[in-house]
Amino acid sequence: MEQTELRAPRLTAAVRPVTPQQRAATAADNGGEPTLDFGDRVPYDVYTHASTLHRLQQPLSDDPGEMSFLMISQIMELYFGLTRHELIEAQRLLRADLVWDALAPLRRAALHLEGLNAAWQGLRWMTPADFNRFRNLLGEASGFQSAMYRHLEFLLGLRDPALIRPFRRHAEVHDELRATLAAPSLWDDVIALLARRGFDLPAELLTRDVAVEHQPDPRVEAAWVEIYSDSGPDNHLRLLGEALTEIAEQFGDWRWQHVKAVQRTMGAKVGSGGSAGLAWLQRSMARVVFPELWSARTTM
Ligand code: HEM
Repeated sequence: MEQTELRAPRLTAAVRPVTPQQRAATAADNGGEPTLDFGDRVPYDVYTHASTLHRLQQPLSDDPGEMSFLMISQIMELYFGLTRHELIEAQRLLRADLVWDALAPLRRAALHLEGLNAAWQGLRWMTPADFNRFRNLLGEASGFQSAMYRHLEFLLGLRDPALIRPFRRHAEVHDELRATLAAPSLWDDVIALLARRGFDLPAELLTRDVAVEHQPDPRVEAAWVEIYSDSGPDNHLRLLGEALTEIAEQFGDWRWQHVKAVQRTMGAKVGSGGSAGLAWLQRSMARVVFPELWSARTTM
């Protein structure tokens, strides 16, 4: 099984490319105004599929507030997917030892996570009474069943193989998640990179079963202490450490804001996905992304 980008087959004809000369000629013809006449489909829609996107909202109630709950969930799903895309690109570059180049997708990932986190604002209006107006209609649907969120967790090194069980009857999604679990996480790739750069890391860390969650290791921590001791501009590994720290912090912010949104809208009631709700989420928060990057700071 190979870890790949998830892409639906192409549904439409491609957008027709134009040259800068053609663009200039059109603008001159138009006298400064935008083009108003097109064939059967507006190119913007061919490119973005906006008309399809805007048909994907199917609220279950007549409650006017449900649309923000539904659309913000969809917006967050898109951000999960976008962040996953950046992390896969960063892994590709790190595996090729291109640390400087990997900083660009990592920076983008951190910015997307910031956008993701800003989306919580759209749910701050929701009181328990507001949520109760449509909650029962959601049945057992819960974000816990988000396959894309699970990809993201697995890529970041939070790996609980049991959490792919909800998808076992959905072969394609299940196979994609198993492929992500079978491949090294971003953190595994960073540790392999540090070993290639001469840091003294034990072989068992480099040959371990990557499907199992990595356990914090004092030698990885020591490597980061050493890396951070050189604050010169050419120390790309320190820049890598900071880029990863930003991602870990932004992802942690999403989890924290989710817990607060849950507390705010349903207190400690049980979850729609069958868990204890708040208490289960608080337990899950204890798992740390890139643990040695945090613990190393104590001895820096
Ligand atoms: C205020 C509205 C929300 C409430 C009350 C809520 C509630 C919960 C609860 C109780 C759980 C634990 C599992 C269970 O359902 O039993 C959960 C998990 C989860 N929810 Fe939400 N949720 C809300 C909004 C969202 C949104 C907008 C998203 C975005 C897609 C989301 C994504 C998730 C994810 C990914 C998990 C799994 C977390 C993990 O594995 O640590 N939730 N949610």
